[in-house]
Amino acid sequence: MATLEYHGHSCFVIESTHGRVILDPFLKDNPRADVAPENVGQVDAILVSHGHADHFGDTLAIARQHRATVVAAYEIASWCESKGVAAHGMATGGAHDFPFGWVKLVPAAHGSLFEADPAFSTNPVGFLYRVEGKLVYHMGDTALTADVRLVGELNRVDLLLAPIGDNYTMGPDDALKAVEFIRPGLVVPMHFDTFDVIRQDAGEFQRRVEEAGHRCHVLAPGETLEF
Ligand code: NI
Ligand code: MN
Repeated sequence: MATLEYHGHSCFVIESTHGRVILDPFLKDNPRADVAPENVGQVDAILVSHGHADHFGDTLAIARQHRATVVAAYEIASWCESKGVAAHGMATGGAHDFPFGWVKLVPAAHGSLFEADPAFSTNPVGFLYRVEGKLVYHMGDTALTADVRLVGELNRVDLLLAPIGDNYTMGPDDALKAVEFIRPGLVVPMHFDTFDVIRQDAGEFQRRVEEAGHRCHVLAPGETLEF
């Protein structure tokens, strides 16, 4: 059993007996975050899907506070190390066993700018994270692509964290198609309502996912579920 906490936008904490991992910690500048970065609790690792500010967010501050390890694409990880923070660089397609669980980087189709240091760019990724025998797929910011379908074909995903905001990522129609490709045990929508341009009716998305025969749970910032 593991616990999923939602903190708004694409930020989640996954807690298990193997540790506490935060993904895409965009808190301080997120108008809908329920918690300040310094109050997010013990963190062992920070998974960063790409270099945009709404995902890299408070990575450095949280890493310093908890001596947590940043897990990200090589370019982002190297930059973090240059700032004195422990980091583990990976690249798309690669997997690694960490004390807190198994992580694989999968392709995401999105932008590459590293906003904390525009001299750097990197490939955006999604994360497969296996812990307590459960597989979580955090899609990051991505379009619906054939790669997404392949991830679904090759893996039995228990929990899918899928962007539905549209404009910068998949919208609800493509996210529903992603759910049909991946057939997860449960889908939780993310990357919506933070800004006007990504406002969505998540309840309507849930209704459509359920109508298609899949399970969906909409979390408000601050809510948790066990999986
Ligand atoms: Ni982005
Ligand atoms: Mn984003």
